[in-house]
Amino acid sequence: MTAVAFLNLLYRSVPVYADFDDSDRGILRSALQNNAEVGITGYLWRTGDQFVQALHGPADAVDELYRRLAEDPRHDDLDLLLRAPAPAASPFENWSMGYDHFIDAELGIARDLDGARPILPPERVTQVWDGLVRAAHCAMQFGSILPMARSPQESEADYLARISAP
Ligand SMILES: Cc1cc2nc3c(=O)[nH]c(=O)nc-3n(C[C@H](O)[C@H](O)[C@H](O)COP(=O)(O)O)c2cc1C
Repeated sequence: MTAVAFLNLLYRSVPVYADFDDSDRGILRSALQNNAEVGITGYLWRTGDQFVQALHGPADAVDELYRRLAEDPRHDDLDLLLRAPAPAASPFENWSMGYDHFIDAELGIARDLDGARPILPPERVTQVWDGLVRAAHCAMQFGSILPMARSPQESEADYLARISAP
């Protein structure tokens, strides 16, 4: 069997801290620092009650990160939606980790009132992935209204310094 060189990975999880809590800053700091070192790029979206994270990178590094993520107490109920061979070029360009809010209802993946997450067959996962990549491209080009998001003109180093400032 040929080893898979690059992967796209998509998962959703349930945040422990509410939206706008400062804990996401710590997550972003780790992501920016660690991902750049191992060639991972991606995007983290959140609502009040969901995280969705897309990752692209060398297969070993992405699998290793996902193992760490599964142990992180800042979220629960990780649900791996996609782990697929990918071309070397990342859909997230050189963004080690983008961050934005995410309108889960728009992609049809909002949780029910009782908290249940909709079941996503593979074709729905593909649509969600494509929708998220489009949203990422839009924010990477035009920016986001969210102060904690990286702005298009900002270098990754400046972004890391900004979100690390007290
Ligand atoms: C939703 C979520 C997304 C995360 N994304 C990343 C990531 O992309 N890269 C990363 O290294 N750590 C990420 N983390 C943090 C890891 O789980 C882990 O705490 C961190 O990698 C440990 O490395 P550190 O000691 O350098 O912070 C994430 C955590 C959460 C809860």
